[in-house]
Amino acid sequence: MNPADAAPVLELAGIHKQFAGIPALQDVRLRLYPGEIHALMGQNGAGKSTLIKVLTGVLEASGGQMQLAGEPVWPDSPLAAQRLGISTVYQEVNLCPNLSVAENIFAGRYPRYGLAQGFRIDWGTVNRRARELVARMGLDIDVTRLLSSYPVAVQQLVAIARAIGIESKVLILDEPTSSLDDDEVQKLFEVLRRLRGEGLAIVFVTHFLNQVYAVSDRITVLRNGTWVGEWRASELGPQALIAAMLGRELAAQSTAAAPPEFDDAAPALLLAEGLGQAGQLQPMDLRVRAGEVVGLAGLLGSGRTELARLLFGLETPDRGMLRIDGETVAFSNPAEAIRHGLALCPEERKTDGIVAELSVRENIALALQARMGMRRFLSRAEQTVLAERFVQAMGIKTVSVDTPIGLLSGGNQQKAMIARWLATEPRLLILDEPTRGVDVAAKQEIMEQILRLAKAGMAVIFISSEMSEVVRVAHRIVVLRDRRKVGELPAGSSEDAVYELIAAEHV
Ligand SMILES: Nc1ncnc2c1ncn2[C@@H]1O[C@H](COP(=O)(O)OP(=O)(O)OP(=O)(O)O)[C@@H](O)[C@H]1O
Ligand SMILES: [Mg+2]
Repeated sequence: MNPADAAPVLELAGIHKQFAGIPALQDVRLRLYPGEIHALMGQNGAGKSTLIKVLTGVLEASGGQMQLAGEPVWPDSPLAAQRLGISTVYQEVNLCPNLSVAENIFAGRYPRYGLAQGFRIDWGTVNRRARELVARMGLDIDVTRLLSSYPVAVQQLVAIARAIGIESKVLILDEPTSSLDDDEVQKLFEVLRRLRGEGLAIVFVTHFLNQVYAVSDRITVLRNGTWVGEWRASELGPQALIAAMLGRELAAQSTAAAPPEFDDAAPALLLAEGLGQAGQLQPMDLRVRAGEVVGLAGLLGSGRTELARLLFGLETPDRGMLRIDGETVAFSNPAEAIRHGLALCPEERKTDGIVAELSVRENIALALQARMGMRRFLSRAEQTVLAERFVQAMGIKTVSVDTPIGLLSGGNQQKAMIARWLATEPRLLILDEPTRGVDVAAKQEIMEQILRLAKAGMAVIFISSEMSEVVRVAHRIVVLRDRRKVGELPAGSSEDAVYELIAAEHV
C-alpha cells in the first residue's frame, strides 16, 4: 500500500466551485490510490461534500481537471460517475422508506428475466442478491420488509450495501458512520478493509477523529474551501490534524470537563415512574431536576430515542406515570409537552427537523413561533434578531440568515436545529445525538453551551453515542440496554464503567 508504487486511480487538480459567485472550493486537489482508505477532513462548511458532489457529477465544477486511471473524465451525472466505477453514498442518504430493503438496493438496476419472460424483474434474484449484500455488511435483516421498519443505522448500512453492490473502483462515503453505534462502525470498517484489500480506493468523511486513525491510510484536509495538505495518517497526529482543519490549535478540553454544581435537594422537574410502552420500552423510572444534565447511554436500539419520544408526547405511554413539577401529565402530542416547557431536538434532522426551502431565520424561529401560538406572530425583524444571535453563538456558517437552510453544510444545519430548540428557552431540553455530524470545534461549543445552560437552571437530557461526551457533561448517567434501564452512574464515572454496565450479563 505504498502510494509511490502505484499510479493514482483518481486525480483531481485545480478544482474550483462557486455558488452564486461565492467560492466554495478554490484550487482543491485530491489523489486516490487503489487499495487505500483516504479520509477527507475539514470543519463544517469546509467543502467536503461539495468536492464529492463535483467529482460524482452532482454539481458542475467551475474549473479544474479530473483523471480516472490516467484518462481525463468529467461525469455529468451520478449515473455517469457510477458507470465509470465511482460509487457514492451521499451525506443525506436518499433512500425510499416505503420500498423494501431489496428494492432500495436494486432500484433502477433490477436483475431481469430474459426476452421469453418479457424482461420482467426477477424478484427471486433481487431478494437473494440483496440478502447476500446485507450479509456482507454483517446485517441480519429481512430484505423483503420495508426499509422504514428498520432504524436509521440499518438504513445507512443499506445505502452502503447499495453502493458496494456496483462494480466500483472508487467508493465514496460522506459521513457514513454518523448514525452508527460502535459495533456497527466496527462492522463497517471490516467491510471497508475487505474492499480495500480488493483494490478499491475509498474516500471517507467523518467528524470522529478516532475513526480516521482506525481505518485511514492517508488524509486530505480542506479548510474554508481550500486545500491544506495531504498526509499519511501515520505522519499526522490528532493534534496536528485538528490544527490543519482549524488553522489553529483547539483549546484544551479540560477547562469545561466537569459539569457544574446543581442543587441536590431540588425537587424533580420531570419524574417518570414505571413509564413504558409495550414493545418499545420496558417500564422505567427517571428523575431530572432543574440544572441537572442527565445522560442517556446505551447502544443503538437500546431505547434512548424511544424514551425521548415518550417523554415528549410523540408516543403515548401505556403504563406508568409522568409528572412535571409534581403535576401528573399525559401528553398526547408534542405541543402539550412544549407548553409544559419541554423541547426535543430530534436525532434525524432531515426527516424530523429542517425545512429545506425555508431560510435559516425561519427554521430557527419555527419552534418558538409554534410555542407562542397563532395569536402573536414574530415579525421578520424579531426573527432576524433571534436568528443572528444564534448564528453568532453557535458559529453557524451561512452567507446570511435569509439563506435557505438546505444550502448550508450538513453540520451547520445540525447547529441550526439545536438553535431552534434553544430559542424556545425550554425548562427541559432533550438532545438526541446533538453532536452528530458537527466538527470537533463545534462539538466542544455545543458541550460548553449545554453546561452553560444547565448552570442557568435548564434541565437537560443528553443522548449521545459518544461515551466520552456523556461522561463529560452528565451529572448522572442512565444506562439503557435492550429497551430497559439497567442502571445509573454518578458524575465522574469513567467511559469503561458505562461500557461495563452496558455489557453486563443479561438478567
Ligand atoms: N447548493 C449550494 N448553494 C449555495 N451554497 C452552497 C451549496 N452547497 C454548499 N454550499 C456552501 O458551500 C460550503 C461548503 O459546504 P459543504 O457542504 O461542502 O461543507 P462540508 O465540508 O461538507 O461540511 P459538513 O461537515 O458540515 O458536512 C458551505 O459554506 C455551504 O453553505
Ligand atoms: Mg458535508
